[in-house]
Amino acid sequence: MGYSRWKVVAAVVFALVCSLSPVDADEHDHTYTDKEEVVLWMNTVGPYHNRQETYKYFSLPFCAGSQKTISHYHETLGEALQGVELEFSGLQIKFKEEVMQSTYCEIELDKAKRDAFVYAIKNHYWYQMYIDDLPIWGIVGEADENGEEHYLWTYKKLEIGFNGNRIVDVNLTSEGKVRLVPNTRIPMSYSVKWKKSDVKFEDRFDKYLDPSFFQHRIHWFSIFNSFMMVIFLVGLVSMILMRTLRKDYARYSKEEEMDDMDRDLGDEYGWKQVHGDVFRPSSHPLIFSSLIGSGCQIFSVSLIVIIVAMVEDLYTERGSMLSTAIFVYAATSPVNGYFGGSLYAKQGGRRWIKQMFIGAFMIPAMVCGTAFFINFIAIYYHASRAIPFGTMVAVCCICFFVILPLNLVGTILGRNLSGQPNFPCRVNAVPRPIPEKKWGTLTRTLKDTRPRQYVEFCALRFMEPAVIVCLGGILPFGSIFIEMYFIFTSFWAYKIYYVYGFMMLVLVILCIVTVCVTIVCTYFLLNAEDYRWQWTSFLSAASTAVYVYMYSFYYYFFKTKMYGLFQTSFYFGYMAVFSTALGIMCGAVGYMGTSAFVRKIYTNVKID
Ligand SMILES: *[C@@H]1O[C@H](CO)[C@@H](O)[C@H](O)[C@H]1NC(C)=O
Repeated sequence: MGYSRWKVVAAVVFALVCSLSPVDADEHDHTYTDKEEVVLWMNTVGPYHNRQETYKYFSLPFCAGSQKTISHYHETLGEALQGVELEFSGLQIKFKEEVMQSTYCEIELDKAKRDAFVYAIKNHYWYQMYIDDLPIWGIVGEADENGEEHYLWTYKKLEIGFNGNRIVDVNLTSEGKVRLVPNTRIPMSYSVKWKKSDVKFEDRFDKYLDPSFFQHRIHWFSIFNSFMMVIFLVGLVSMILMRTLRKDYARYSKEEEMDDMDRDLGDEYGWKQVHGDVFRPSSHPLIFSSLIGSGCQIFSVSLIVIIVAMVEDLYTERGSMLSTAIFVYAATSPVNGYFGGSLYAKQGGRRWIKQMFIGAFMIPAMVCGTAFFINFIAIYYHASRAIPFGTMVAVCCICFFVILPLNLVGTILGRNLSGQPNFPCRVNAVPRPIPEKKWGTLTRTLKDTRPRQYVEFCALRFMEPAVIVCLGGILPFGSIFIEMYFIFTSFWAYKIYYVYGFMMLVLVILCIVTVCVTIVCTYFLLNAEDYRWQWTSFLSAASTAVYVYMYSFYYYFFKTKMYGLFQTSFYFGYMAVFSTALGIMCGAVGYMGTSAFVRKIYTNVKID
């Protein structure tokens, strides 16, 4: 009993490793000889307004053709997770063989079947099919103007373009409108026409892309705009920091030369004061280092997946984007272990095994938790989104047998290679009290200061970490929100995202802006003699995600036509996952940049 269960697990792991490797199955070499069978796969039906809500094609009472040789199959994990439900249509199609209009089956319409069709038509259901991996969309039916009578399209007219021995183009025309009357028989028919086409095989997906949408002036303009912002911001930050830091250094070294008497009267303030505390471990080091590790991993996954997508046209294979992402995520687990583990060791943490588990499973648990929650709703609605049990087992196996061991390797490397706390300043035994940022204390110090310092002090008043955290995300969000619109649209509507070059640029811009903003925020915070910069820099960068999530609300209400419990929970659930992942990534990037900065400024100042 127990033994056979392990055999199942082993088989699943093996199947999984095979299915993850993006090798074409032999059915898919995409070449045909004359009269070779061409398979028309039925995939899903679902409302036009939400591409992500899908049901099996045969969940509607459609009928299948007589041929029964091939049945259900799942090719890859990515397909399974995305709710691909290929089922053989039963239609006889042979390469370059014309088929005149012929009936392939009849629907015996009773009351229940009619109601199912009427529901689908009312909700603007479309169905999706595949021929030779080319997607085809067709509309289920139509209602008349006053919405009382409902009609079903019964005749699928297929026109297939071929170039040599390959299929390069498919058009579907729906005809044969039949009124839905209970207790009638509705014949379903199809015809196939073959046409010579000049489209090259490599270009056959071009007609699904929408350059007028994705390469719209707005898109170019927004990239240009963000790019300008980056140049401006980087210039500004480096200028301000150079100048103020030079002044600070000059001031601090002057103080060195003053005797004790003068020093008491001199203006001892600013970031140097907290040198004994800046490298104090953050509060909750375990969670903190797990977050940073996960963020670094998400960053590397995004980078690699975008590069792969730029090199290979991932959109031409169903589910390959998701398969690639899962594969890359598993493969980059050592990154997570390395950064998380080394940071935890530097902060003097001792429970490193616990840290490793939390770091390794933080993101998978979040994603799976949300997915399983939505799964319950999907099962209730019988959506094809309901993830099959085998797939769930497969995902758990990846977590335990791939991600965890790789993470362990990374953690051990991280702890041993860069786990020593070699900070430029010693940490004082007793923490320095954090000055209260109140007008009273400020005006007292202000009595004989110059205007520049006055401005600085006014700024100090707002340097509560909470305020910094809220403001920190605005600029990074500003640099990405137009791209967010394009990404959301391709995810929730029928658009194929293919401009990964843009996405790459936006990722780079986002990282630079985030680092610049967090460095400035941290400088102000430290100048206010508040040394709690670790969490502040992380959270101020991560707050970008809060703005993105708020933007997703706007998107939901103004750009989509979704409704109902399933669509709403699906949308907000996955948007929450997306935003959280984005936030953790930004936070980690911001923290990494800031920690390099902090280390730098304290290395250059002489500490007595
Ligand atoms: C499909 O439709 C497009 C646009 O109407 C047309 O250019 C193309 O030739 C059609 N292809 C086939 C195979 O009929």
